[in-house]
Amino acid sequence: MEEKKEKMLRPIFHVTGGNGWINDPNGLVLYKGRYHAFYQHYPHDVHWGPMHWGHVVSDDLLHWERLPIALYPGDGEDGCFSGSAIVWQDKLWLLYTGFSENGGGENIRQLQCLASSDDGVHFTKHGVVIGEKDLPAEYSPCDFRDPKVWCKDGWFWCIVAARAKEGRGRILLYRSQDLFSWEFVNDLLGEDSLGIMIECPDYIEEKGLLLCGEQFQPHEGNTHLNVHTTRWYSGSIDYQTGRFTVKNRGIIDYGFDFYAPQTFAYDGAMMGWLQMWDRNIPSEKYGFAGMLTAARKLTVKDDELYQEPIVKGETVVEQEVNGRICDSGKIGVLRITADNVKSLRLALRQKDGQQTTLALDGDEWVFNRSLSGESMVGVEKDADSLAGIRRMPFKKAAHTELIVVMDEFSVEIFADGKALSATVYPDLDADKITLDVDADYCKYVREKVL
Ligand code: FRU
Repeated sequence: MEEKKEKMLRPIFHVTGGNGWINDPNGLVLYKGRYHAFYQHYPHDVHWGPMHWGHVVSDDLLHWERLPIALYPGDGEDGCFSGSAIVWQDKLWLLYTGFSENGGGENIRQLQCLASSDDGVHFTKHGVVIGEKDLPAEYSPCDFRDPKVWCKDGWFWCIVAARAKEGRGRILLYRSQDLFSWEFVNDLLGEDSLGIMIECPDYIEEKGLLLCGEQFQPHEGNTHLNVHTTRWYSGSIDYQTGRFTVKNRGIIDYGFDFYAPQTFAYDGAMMGWLQMWDRNIPSEKYGFAGMLTAARKLTVKDDELYQEPIVKGETVVEQEVNGRICDSGKIGVLRITADNVKSLRLALRQKDGQQTTLALDGDEWVFNRSLSGESMVGVEKDADSLAGIRRMPFKKAAHTELIVVMDEFSVEIFADGKALSATVYPDLDADKITLDVDADYCKYVREKVL
């Protein structure tokens, strides 16, 4: 009985595939008043396999209900890769990448396909709508994926990740009147990415925000250390020329486990994949691998990106802190506010030498999961990665706000609008919390979620 319970262990309010593997969030959309989230899913194993689209739905981005798998490979596709959703004529439309192996290598094809649903549950595939003939000759049809669609001025617009045959990652802009027939507009940035390929581009017109993933990019100081990283660009698209003008740029999340974010059509909230490629995933032994982040609200102010988790729980502890506070809890939200903070160290999931910590060190937050229980080893060989460390900038200010979203197997840290996400696998009963703080004033709040 006990063993069965443990085998079924899952995060409480983060989306998983139930059983099996998941990666990127897909098709995030508000449809008929409910939030629909799809995700890259292989239900038959805890490893990546022929991609399906799993499906969950929610009224509040916190309680998720599982729906039947929306897209299955087949119909000439060896996998239904990432994509997005849009509502048109009362129907829910999915634009996704049909992946065909064709013997591999240069014969691989990644083309953009369409599916639709009248009820938001059952989907009908309509085949390829942005095919090889729609891809200018200088880009490779082997790396052409992850369409993100939106609507503006009577047109459907869509960006797709691509790779220049003689270069690296690109983002291509297309437009259409009916979702079935698409016209190439331009190469959005007109230059190669730093990494070898771009993945999962997203554009939020109302915020002037472009997001994307990058594969195998070089490190930049202590950032972009993960094998794959994410970037945001503030700026705007000129729809006449199809070019995006960059005003500012940055990393979306400083943590170990964050990739392939997407925003909800008609709402703008963002979710990402709370995991990373090419690492062992200790939850495999419980029958699942991969989860989505909690939903985040995005704001662009003075060309900077600010993120804030949308989750709100019921306050169970609210206390002023002067020195140290000890508490316990492993699932919920911590909200720590401090005025003129001089030092701060937060230790979570503590038990018998195990702990997950975040501490201020000069102009950095230093996150350390080296004592977080089961180790996670990836392909990254830099000193921080080997030491279980990730860093995030800290700017001295009169007021500092720290929010930590904790669930079974994860912590997502938000400090003054910046984010750092990581999975952790300590003992299941490791739940002590210690906060040491030196500030003019500090308040500690713990909220219970679900
Ligand atoms: C990003 C990604 C996408 C692709 C999908 C395949 O994590 O590689 O580019 O569509 O995963 O599962």
